[in-house]
Amino acid sequence: MKIGNKMEEAINKQVNAEIYSAYLYLSMSAKCTEVNLKGFANWFYVQAQEEMTHAMKFYRFVLERGGHAIFPAVEKVRDDWKSPLEMFEAAYAHEQKVTAMINNLMDIAITEKDHASASMLKWFIDEQVEEEANSSELADKLKLIGDSKDALFMTDKELSLRVFVDSTVTGA
Ligand code: FEO
Repeated sequence: MKIGNKMEEAINKQVNAEIYSAYLYLSMSAKCTEVNLKGFANWFYVQAQEEMTHAMKFYRFVLERGGHAIFPAVEKVRDDWKSPLEMFEAAYAHEQKVTAMINNLMDIAITEKDHASASMLKWFIDEQVEEEANSSELADKLKLIGDSKDALFMTDKELSLRVFVDSTVTGA
């Protein structure tokens, strides 16, 4: 069944929001690289890659359902991050907004009785639980660390281990 106009419009907006998310995390990665926190930079870079896979999953869905893809401008992101803690707090706030957007998409799917969209969106509902947990846990950890340079560098080492996996394909 061809995608309805309302859902097509909302998912197109979500593609843009996910690309914005990638852009946001890339700005954080860049800042961490500039101040030599290579592990943090890696974590945010992998996160940016993940966000692009989210965008592509929505994009492919619009076309698979016979819809029309649109390409509006992506909003500018800030580049004046002051600390990893500020970044993870902003990341957590951002992910909460994204969760609200995904929930809204699910509400549209339910109202429109669009079962195919609801089934696809279920993956994102589950994914958002992890997205919020990751950023809020790291923000909490950085609050505990406070001014300890040793703990910051140890965390940097840990975050250098994150590897990109396209979970939209593997389902992981
Ligand atoms: Fe695409 Fe961070 O959720």
